[in-house]
Amino acid sequence: MRKEIFIIGNWKCNPLKLAQAQNLYRSIVSGLRKEAKENRTKQHSFKTKNKKRARIVICPPFVYINDLVTLNKKLGADLEFGAQNCFWEESGAYTGEISPKMVKSLGCRYVIIGHSERRLYFNETNEIINKKLKISLQAGLIPILCIGENKKDEETGKTEEVLKVQLQEGLRGFENEKLAKNLIIAYEPVWAIGTGNFCDPEKTSKVLYFIKQRINTKVLYGGSVNSKIAGEYLKVGFDGLLVGGASLKVKEFIKIIKNV
Ligand code: PGA
Repeated sequence: MRKEIFIIGNWKCNPLKLAQAQNLYRSIVSGLRKEAKENRTKQHSFKTKNKKRARIVICPPFVYINDLVTLNKKLGADLEFGAQNCFWEESGAYTGEISPKMVKSLGCRYVIIGHSERRLYFNETNEIINKKLKISLQAGLIPILCIGENKKDEETGKTEEVLKVQLQEGLRGFENEKLAKNLIIAYEPVWAIGTGNFCDPEKTSKVLYFIKQRINTKVLYGGSVNSKIAGEYLKVGFDGLLVGGASLKVKEFIKIIKNV
């Protein structure tokens, strides 16, 4: 059976205008179609170099999701959508927050939870992340749980220790069997994100083994992924990639998909 892989584009807080988001999306779809023509397959089930099926997921800012889902339908494209975050309660008096049910009703299938930028700038703890994971699963979303060590942890050899705590506390109260089916993990070394310093694939393979020993689910790599290195992570056993900066550059993003 052909293995399914995930290429997830995290647009973060970009671009600034709806028209730009629509143009970016349109260009990705047409670029993929061009490639798909050569691959003789539909772009939503893109056949990569290794003959794996790639699910391509775009995570735009909340405010663009509705328009892009509509555009997706209009273009007859089949890319999937995810949110970059959600709240830990379903509804109520929580000014400014977005419920996972809202995210789901807009047409998202995924939600990124616990991204290191949320942990860093919005003080998200493992406890908060645990609540967000639970409510997302209840809403029928597939959470993408981000874990990763910072530079100091890496330098002092504490990577596994940090990941162990993030997994233990983030997944507290979950039943492993059920979880495995409905959760994706993204290993993103914090020091590799947005720096151009991706983590050496050989080194990530040890971390991948460490994670897979603890939870039997899909694991992605993220952190300065580019088209030249992308395929290496798949070779060491990752189930896909979480792509930040490069997902905003159409040609590079498509090259990444092609090269895995
Ligand atoms: P990057 O971001 O690819 O720009 O390093 C990855 C991420 O934050 O998910």
